[in-house]
Amino acid sequence: MAEIRMSGIDEDALAGLARALAAHVRGGGSIHLAGPLGAGKTTFARALLRALGAGARIKSPTYTLIETYVLPGLTVQHLDLYRIAAAEELEWLGLRDLADGAVLWLIEWPERGIGAIPPPDLAVYLEHAPVGRDVHLKGGSEKGRRWLAALPRLPNAVCARQVGGNS
Ligand SMILES: Nc1ncnc2c1ncn2[C@@H]1O[C@H](COP(=O)(O)OP(=O)(O)OP(=O)(O)O)[C@@H](O)[C@H]1O
Ligand SMILES: [Mg+2]
Repeated sequence: MAEIRMSGIDEDALAGLARALAAHVRGGGSIHLAGPLGAGKTTFARALLRALGAGARIKSPTYTLIETYVLPGLTVQHLDLYRIAAAEELEWLGLRDLADGAVLWLIEWPERGIGAIPPPDLAVYLEHAPVGRDVHLKGGSEKGRRWLAALPRLPNAVCARQVGGNS
């Protein structure tokens, strides 16, 4: 499955989507969380991190740029690139050295770090809607498409077949 779209979902449903995904991402990979200010990127990341066992208090990396969670068998790197003006500014973080072993990347404002961050296995686009948020999940690799295919049937989800892609 290449894409899933959900419209006007509330915060509980958005968190539920992240929780459903958590079961499939323990092997690591890259999830880009895109969308305007306040769209729900951190909300999604927090729900996913909690479901992975990162604990109840999960800070937003808005000020620190990166928050690291070392979990059994998986390290999660949660980044917020809002304050980054150019991808070169990320060099000092040494992201490549952080990519050893099973690492799950959760990257807010990914468009600001293109070239310096792992490309997405899954891209999550969030938008403000008249009620709640519109969500568009797009597989960026075979792995990401497998994650989407493994999700349970979600309420209010329209699964679109990507042109030339597999179902
Ligand atoms: N599906 C939703 N429906 C309604 N409100 C939501 C939804 N998801 C998150 N919110 C609320 O929107 C606000 C912003 O959420 P959040 O901090 O996750 O956004 P963000 O995309 O990370 O913002 P930023 O760009 O500042 O990092 C929070 O008050 C959150 O409770
Ligand atoms: Mg945020």
